[in-house]
Amino acid sequence: MLIVANWKAYVEDLPKAKKLFATSKSLAKRNISTIVLAPPAPFLGALAAGNTSAVAFAAQDVSATLGGAQTGEATAPAYAGAGATYAIIGHSERRAAGDTDALVAQKLALSLSHGLVPILCVGERARDGEGRYLSFIREELTVALESLMPKERGKVIVAYEPIWAIGKTAADAIASDDLAEMVLYIRKVLAELVPGKRGERFLVLYGGSVEPENVRTLAENSGIDGFLIGHASVDVHAFGALVKNLA
Ligand code: PGA
Repeated sequence: MLIVANWKAYVEDLPKAKKLFATSKSLAKRNISTIVLAPPAPFLGALAAGNTSAVAFAAQDVSATLGGAQTGEATAPAYAGAGATYAIIGHSERRAAGDTDALVAQKLALSLSHGLVPILCVGERARDGEGRYLSFIREELTVALESLMPKERGKVIVAYEPIWAIGKTAADAIASDDLAEMVLYIRKVLAELVPGKRGERFLVLYGGSVEPENVRTLAENSGIDGFLIGHASVDVHAFGALVKNLA
């Protein structure tokens, strides 16, 4: 299982960041899961410097541009240089802050060309009875990936994060049979978008109110390859319990 800890802006001091990193390192030693930490940008470099552990790092986002007169931007090469090997792209919180489909596609391309494995977030705002959420996901995947070369498309990890399930509690997360349906569907669409790569060979993650209580059920019955964890990843005890519950 691939566990991506999306610290969002929850972590605001270096001692807390260091504590979460230390916990992750000891969890990683047990080889239960591969752990990737996505800290706020100022902490990523501090934690990743000299990192020899199995824990990897992800940018929470990258700039849609490269270097230059862009105050406040952090580019894909800057993240790669600071020790990131993954980048979360198109998170619903970034899309809500203005990331369009075109920007998401640009960020994917920049991540790939600077050695970052993109974790592309997709997810519908609400569910409906007619299956429109399925065509919404197809569209999000298609517009994000179609401008990339087929070989590049095959490198993208997809995180399915239904917006209605984000930031709540385990009881509000998706049901595992609904997740299983969506994971199959995402694999089918990805196989269409990347000729020559079978759907089951893509890495597909789920995110949205994953907690120690529901992680195992979601993992067992859905065909996913891992999780993108928000609030439960910034509590040392909850994160430890969550990873151990997958063992
Ligand atoms: P959550 O966030 O686990 O707090 O629901 C997940 C995410 O937004 O990546």
